[in-house]
Amino acid sequence: MKIENLEKINTGFLNTPIHKLENISKKYNTNIYIKRDDLTGFAFGGNKLRKLDYLLKDALNNGCSVLLTYGGPQTNHGRLTAAVAARFGLKCGIIMDGPAPKKASGNLILDKMMGADLYFMDDSSFKNESKEVYKQRYAELLEKTTNEVLRYYQNMGDKVYNIPVGGSSPVGAAGYVMAAKEIKDQLEEMNVKMDYVFTGFGSVGTFGGMYLGSKYFNTGFKTIGISVSHKNEAELQEKVDYIKQTNEFLQLNVDVKLSDMWIEDGFVGISYNVPDELTRKYVYMMAREEAIILDPCYTGKTFRGMIEMIESGKIPKGSNVMLLHTGGAPGIFSESHSEAMQEELWGESQKEFKL
Ligand SMILES: Cc1ncc(COP(=O)(O)O)c(C=O)c1O
Repeated sequence: MKIENLEKINTGFLNTPIHKLENISKKYNTNIYIKRDDLTGFAFGGNKLRKLDYLLKDALNNGCSVLLTYGGPQTNHGRLTAAVAARFGLKCGIIMDGPAPKKASGNLILDKMMGADLYFMDDSSFKNESKEVYKQRYAELLEKTTNEVLRYYQNMGDKVYNIPVGGSSPVGAAGYVMAAKEIKDQLEEMNVKMDYVFTGFGSVGTFGGMYLGSKYFNTGFKTIGISVSHKNEAELQEKVDYIKQTNEFLQLNVDVKLSDMWIEDGFVGISYNVPDELTRKYVYMMAREEAIILDPCYTGKTFRGMIEMIESGKIPKGSNVMLLHTGGAPGIFSESHSEAMQEELWGESQKEFKL
């Protein structure tokens, strides 16, 4: 299906703004811009609405009544799938990694607030097995859970639309192919020539879409993907294969090559969604300099990568750079991240007055 002919429904507010980060630009003597995809609207916004524009339309075209997706308990994509389902009168199911936490926090509260059905996969009986055994048992558990959940909806007469982790199917990535065009048009209007756009590299619909869209629409900027979790060679190859499939599905005719992609693996911190001090330092810096709230799992890492690459000279001096703010702020209010911030932001430093 040619991208121009792929149908969508606007689930958020587009175009999102681009503006310069004046204080941070001065601090690093570089022109630093931000694309505010955290402002796509509904349910705290974020990048996933662009993917859901296309996924929702595909679901409705196929007569589906349930959006079923997958992710970690703090999945931002799950939250926005719940949001879209709520607004467009569908049911939403989210199959989550790991056992149900005792308390809901961050995105989990929002998922429940919007009426999503949550299904947890309790891996505690094989958590301590070797990596290989764990992977196999986990795949079995996922299959069992998915089959049971599908049966549950089918028994109620529902038809399920299956959305992979992060909304990263070839249909979903169309949202970021078109975002590259939106950015190109906005920059032309602003009369700014952009050199580099930084984005998080997770399930890769965002990076992949931007990579393809930049080439297809001849935007003139290069997209840099900052990994949010370490990926081995096989995992990286899977992502490249996904970008190739997307290229074919959307008939973009881009020459997709790993050697041509700029992916940085050095800013993951400890590991995926594990609180780390260095990432938080950049989250605080953005809040204090620009009053923009990043998140500790994705955008904090992306911003850290961008600044450290400017400082180290990896990004040539005088370049124009842009951070794609992909949302995710509710992650701040998840248990582990808010706990980590208590020590640094709260501690014993509060001033109190009494009569
Ligand atoms: C806030 C946020 N930023 C970035 C990403 C990464 O996007 P992608 O999964 O398309 O690589 C995600 C993915 O969940 C996210 O939630």
